[in-house]
Amino acid sequence: MENNDVTQQNTEKRKRVFSAIKPTGNPTLGNYLGAMQYWGGMSDEYDCLFSVADLHAITVAIEPKDLRENSKRLFALLIAIGIDPQKNILFMQSHVPAHAELSWLLNNYTMFGEASRMTQFKDKSKKAPENVNVGLFDYPVLMAADILLYQADIVPVGDDQMQHVELCRNIALRFNNKYSPTFTVPVGKVPTFGARIYSLSDPTAKMGKSEGAGDGTVFILDKPEDIMRKFKRAVTDCDTKVKASKDKLGITNLLTIYASLTGGTVQSAEREFENADYATFKARVGEAAVERLRPIREKYERLRADDGALLGIMKDGADVAARLARRTLEKVYKKIGFVRL
Ligand code: TYM
Repeated sequence: MENNDVTQQNTEKRKRVFSAIKPTGNPTLGNYLGAMQYWGGMSDEYDCLFSVADLHAITVAIEPKDLRENSKRLFALLIAIGIDPQKNILFMQSHVPAHAELSWLLNNYTMFGEASRMTQFKDKSKKAPENVNVGLFDYPVLMAADILLYQADIVPVGDDQMQHVELCRNIALRFNNKYSPTFTVPVGKVPTFGARIYSLSDPTAKMGKSEGAGDGTVFILDKPEDIMRKFKRAVTDCDTKVKASKDKLGITNLLTIYASLTGGTVQSAEREFENADYATFKARVGEAAVERLRPIREKYERLRADDGALLGIMKDGADVAARLARRTLEKVYKKIGFVRL
């Protein structure tokens, strides 16, 4: 099977990439521009593993039917954005029990103080004070387990996950120092720009998938007319110049989105829209998004038409991932001193 080749290539010292996305809500243009758009092409250079982080999704309240639907949707979407399951190891996190096991072990090498400093925990606790559960607090340790199980060298993420990758590095270093080198210490990699896409209706807030953001959030699977409406309504300012600046967060965000969608830079986008009014500019950004997302949505719909095939791809990915994960996990159990059979 092709997936086995991925495992073998690693012995020839190709660097390994791991990243994941959680199936809460609907994946957004922020997820796509900040992280997912780069994942499809990485298998040319690296051995890549990508996962739907479903275990992470239950740290916030979620209905069983939504978890199921979101998980399948996201898995199909990852293929639709260009992750070829023949060239990458693509799997659902909960299908590989080693994630939960390593997470428990790593809890004991993670300090309460350092976990308490995670800004995402603080933000999410504020947003849902009635559900500040231990899983939400422990979430970055599970994320560290995801990465360390596969001895990943590189973790491509948006800006908001970098603090978690730093924590993962600290846990790996602590464990390696206490026992002996066990884990590859990974580096986080954020894109040069587009690492943080802001809401179209509030350009001070991240464009988030779980926050019920109304017209501020563009979803990857939105219909063209919805995408256009959201961009046309995007908040700007009372100036008239299409120029990036600290005082023009809405316009800066739109320029970043346009540059990221078209493969240009913010400066080239500024030049292109030098003489444009805001309405024209916003419509052009909307059109660029529609064109980029259209083939993704079409491929996604084809994939969703065959549930059995999708589950088959999940199973193949999980089998390969589980074998790799077991190797690391066994090493960890032995180093700590567990009796193994
Ligand atoms: P998640 O599901 O929130 O987001 C998935 C990826 O999208 C990026 N992202 C953004 N980038 C730019 N602008 C935005 N507005 C924006 N919103 C989200 C995120 O930075 C992320 O890269 N904990 C992770 C999932 C995870 C993971 C892992 C990631 C679980 N285990 C191991 C890397 C390695 C998360 O919640 O991402």
